[in-house]
Amino acid sequence: MKRKTKFVCTECGYESPKWMGKCPGCNSWNTLLEEEVYIGKNNRKGNSNIVKEKSVPTPISKVEMQDEPRTLTTYLEFNRVLGGGVVKGSLVLIGGDPGIGKSTLLLQISADISKSSKKVLYVSGEESARQIKLRADRLGINNDGLLVLAENDLEIVVNTIDNLQPDFVVIDSIQTIFLPHVTSAPGSVSQVRECTAEIMKVAKQLSIPVFIVGHVTKEGAIAGPRMLEHMVDTVLYFEGERHHTFRILRAVKNRFGSTNEIGIFEMKESGLAEVLNPSEIFLEERSEGTAGSVVVASMEGTRPVLVELQSLISPSCYGNPRRMTTGIDQNKVVLIMAVLEKRVGLLLQNQDAYVKIAGGVKLDEPAVDLAVAISIASSYKDKKISTTDVFIGEVGLTGEVRRVSRIDQRVTEAAKLGFKRAIVPKRNLSGWNIPNNIEVIGVNDLGEAIRIAFTETPF
Ligand SMILES: Nc1ncnc2c1ncn2[C@@H]1O[C@H](COP(=O)(O)OP(=O)(O)OP(=O)(O)O)[C@@H](O)[C@H]1O
Ligand SMILES: [Mg+2]
Ligand SMILES: [Zn+2]
Repeated sequence: MKRKTKFVCTECGYESPKWMGKCPGCNSWNTLLEEEVYIGKNNRKGNSNIVKEKSVPTPISKVEMQDEPRTLTTYLEFNRVLGGGVVKGSLVLIGGDPGIGKSTLLLQISADISKSSKKVLYVSGEESARQIKLRADRLGINNDGLLVLAENDLEIVVNTIDNLQPDFVVIDSIQTIFLPHVTSAPGSVSQVRECTAEIMKVAKQLSIPVFIVGHVTKEGAIAGPRMLEHMVDTVLYFEGERHHTFRILRAVKNRFGSTNEIGIFEMKESGLAEVLNPSEIFLEERSEGTAGSVVVASMEGTRPVLVELQSLISPSCYGNPRRMTTGIDQNKVVLIMAVLEKRVGLLLQNQDAYVKIAGGVKLDEPAVDLAVAISIASSYKDKKISTTDVFIGEVGLTGEVRRVSRIDQRVTEAAKLGFKRAIVPKRNLSGWNIPNNIEVIGVNDLGEAIRIAFTETPF
């Protein structure tokens, strides 16, 4: 047996016999890592016992349209993020920071699926069966259909899957399992790639949905090659702030659904509980009656969510004023500040600006522009915004407030939560039924919105 090393790019998987600073495959710097390679007979076992269906080219007009068969869990948030349930034969990668609750979520989902007389295999390369049992006890899980396997060797895992033919498989985590014929360490680029390819094969051939857990690096990417994300069908991120109990499940890639939907959970002693009324939770800790705090009605996928947006504008001490944002694109804030300066006459160029979305949510749709502008103006002028106002609208470069989608859903949600006024684009005023417990005010431009926000406080 000869041993040799090679260098593999963690971004794109490019291989090279020698180290290079820059990867020729993807032009990234410092991404080549040394790994041991085994040269000799490739003793990899093929799944030769499975008869492959012959594929024939079909005219696209004749391709049969069939919805993918899906399994529904009782977790509505989970189903929604996946695009309507777990798709048969799909490979899903779920990433997240250490301790965020990945194992907890997947154990709860496993238990849920196993309840409907289905067989579920939960493979852990990280924890012993006893540790999993401890968690299961805390979560009140005790189903016979849920089988636990503490194993790192993927060949054994694959054999178990072959024999058991489960309906759902979890592999926790991809960084801890290995294939014996790949000599690099578990978690290395080659191992992660080969293992994922092997799992993919099993998932597709046996039509079993497989969820794999992936750790996240400090930079926030799933550890291992970026390729991993290309190989799988769906990539989910489970995120949240360490100090908050909310957890957000987000699809960043989905071959079977949209990537707009988010699922919101709360981490409790007894496990993860779904949050079906996110607006109430997000507004719970609202800094009522402070300058810079504004509420926006944003669409998260198909659901309207009301969130608090906070700005802090203060004179900057250095030449280059700072623009810092959390949960919102910094460029959007810079642009809105430029519009406020040029079209409304706020002198913001010597001000530091910090803009933050509360509750760990990310807002990226244009409809939040107006709320951002009002929040910045409010902090700059040090004037409070009424706590019963909500702002919706896109802001154009000339300071005009442009129409947004789904205005009725946004306003209805605001009315439901007790908001008294919705300041919306004037062009959004017609064509829908305004709820009668909220006043809807249409504005043409930013100046008008600011006048209404600051002078005409209700009652
Ligand atoms: N007794 C408990 N009461 C409340 N919450 C708990 C309790 N024990 C654990 N937790 C929560 O569960 C989290 C750990 O969950 P879990 O092990 O599922 O995370 P993970 O993402 O799988 O972590 P890792 O990256 O270590 O695998 C803890 O950070 C904590 O928030
Ligand atoms: Mg875990
Ligand atoms: Zn590369």
